Amino acid sequence: MIRSQPSIAMLGALLIAGAAPFAAHRAMGGWAVTTVQDLPDYIVAGKALTLTYTVRQHGLTLLNGLKPEVEARAGGTELRVMGAPGKSAGQYVSTVTLPTAGAWTITIKSGFGNSGVTLEPIQVIEAGARALVLNDQERGHRLFIAKGCVTCHRQIQVGPDLTNRQYPVEYLKQLLADPKGTLGKSKSGNEMPNLNLNPQEIAALASYVGSVKQAAAR
Ligand code: HEC
Repeated sequence: MIRSQPSIAMLGALLIAGAAPFAAHRAMGGWAVTTVQDLPDYIVAGKALTLTYTVRQHGLTLLNGLKPEVEARAGGTELRVMGAPGKSAGQYVSTVTLPTAGAWTITIKSGFGNSGVTLEPIQVIEAGARALVLNDQERGHRLFIAKGCVTCHRQIQVGPDLTNRQYPVEYLKQLLADPKGTLGKSKSGNEMPNLNLNPQEIAALASYVGSVKQAAAR
């Protein structure tokens, strides 16, 4: 009995260390995944942009009744816009007009605890300037954050670590279109949600997640 005590103490320490990310998020009122719909490649200065996003508690339960806020920052300028309920459950809409060209950082605070997402800086171009064209991998990287993949697969780690993993692109496309049907019954007890991605988003994400180079940089 006495001999087993140190190992129990050690196990306890390991469990506490392992539970830390969850504990931190619980203390902030639970965690949620914020998923942006139709993330643009770029924004035109002075033109109203409607951002639509969905909030899912634990990545699964659509959350209504939140008071989300969108913050946009560039240089010393910061804009804040509240979100209004959208058409579907758990969906919100914020309309923001970014006044000047440059790289803007947009943060969506879901209003559920401290959860939210800071998008990769997005280029705002002058009206009439040439449109930016991103390739699939660049777009996939941006979507990995904007869709909330990063929340589960990196920050909270309820999903497996995808870094340095290689998957066939066709498998990824199938998985992203139908996670439950592709993965079958979860081994870990955690589920991957269907985020209602469109075919272009799926192609970009599959290209990004499927590439070794990007995986190493992730
Ligand atoms: C709510 C959390 C959550 C979100 C959001 C999420 N995933 Fe997952 N993902 C999971 C979990 C959990 C699993 C493992 C499910 C299982 O074991 O059945 C998984 C599995 C996967 C796998 C398969 C891993 C393997 O080894 O077979 C890939 C690839 C993947 N996710 C990519 C993504 C991408 C890309 C996104 C964003 C579009 C995303 N996930 C969003 C939780 C999430």
